[in-house]
Amino acid sequence: MQKKIETVKTLLDALPFIKEFNKEIVVIKYGGSAQTSPQLKEKFAEDILLMYLVGIRPVIVHGGGTKITDMLSALSIETKFIDGQRVTTKEVMRIAEMILSGEINKDLVSLLNSHGAKAIGISGKDAHFITAKAKDFAKWGLTGNITNVKANVVTRLMDEKFIPVIAPIAAGEELGHPGFNINADLCASYVAKAIGANKIMFLTDTAGVLNNDKELLDTLTKNEVEALKADGTIHGGMVPKVDACLEAIDGGVHKAHIIDGRLEHSMLLELFTSAGVGTQIVK
Ligand SMILES: Nc1ncnc2c1ncn2[C@@H]1O[C@H](COP(=O)(O)OP(=O)(O)OP(=O)(O)O)[C@@H](O)[C@H]1O
Ligand SMILES: [Mg+2]
Repeated sequence: MQKKIETVKTLLDALPFIKEFNKEIVVIKYGGSAQTSPQLKEKFAEDILLMYLVGIRPVIVHGGGTKITDMLSALSIETKFIDGQRVTTKEVMRIAEMILSGEINKDLVSLLNSHGAKAIGISGKDAHFITAKAKDFAKWGLTGNITNVKANVVTRLMDEKFIPVIAPIAAGEELGHPGFNINADLCASYVAKAIGANKIMFLTDTAGVLNNDKELLDTLTKNEVEALKADGTIHGGMVPKVDACLEAIDGGVHKAHIIDGRLEHSMLLELFTSAGVGTQIVK
């Protein structure tokens, strides 16, 4: 009996947060690095379903960096990164789209649906809802910068009670263009801005942003982020992630968090308890 009362108390503790986020849009960037074990993926799906059932409108944008790299190396195709973003040749683009739209997106959609959600997988090419242009073709090839997001494609899906699962691929503007590979962090923040998200959470494979002594930094301002980038403390894949956080909060998203995707239920801890997890980026 006592145990049952505890369960009820736990539910009641979450009540203020459930109220706060009712009908709010929460964008979750599900990093490739956090999609490790099948168990963790199951927990991820359960958390999304719980969020959805208590009235939150979740939108998922996934990455897939590690899987793309693995496939490229299996095919002996060379790949490199400049400032944390992949150089995308035409060949790399084909593989990136296969892995992102073909494999990871469908896997995630199936997983969510098998838990009873109504998830629907799309990439920016569907209805041309995300368009991009080359970031710097000579340097990064088909790695794109987003030029437009048609918010109504996503909001209509949510109105119909679907959970949108977005692969970070954008359409090019010219006819027959192969499309663009978009850094998933930046894709998540552009989508979050366009659809008026309340919160954005980046699930990755570290506790959050760490300093040089590997200690977690729980809150960072724009100036602090710039200083940590300048001295190299923030490097590689963390660069587009902090940039994406700044982009989101500048664009009206109330809160941006980088949280540990290796920790079970980290999203629920962030949403439904007063103890923040990971790093919060503030204005
Ligand atoms: N200051 C820092 N604190 C924490 N991690 C950092 C820092 N600087 C660089 N990193 C690196 O950033 C990585 C996270 O970015 P990464 O792009 O690899 O993952 P992801 O974005 O979650 O996955 P994907 O790119 O597949 O979507 C960490 O694993 C770590 O190696
Ligand atoms: Mg990344």
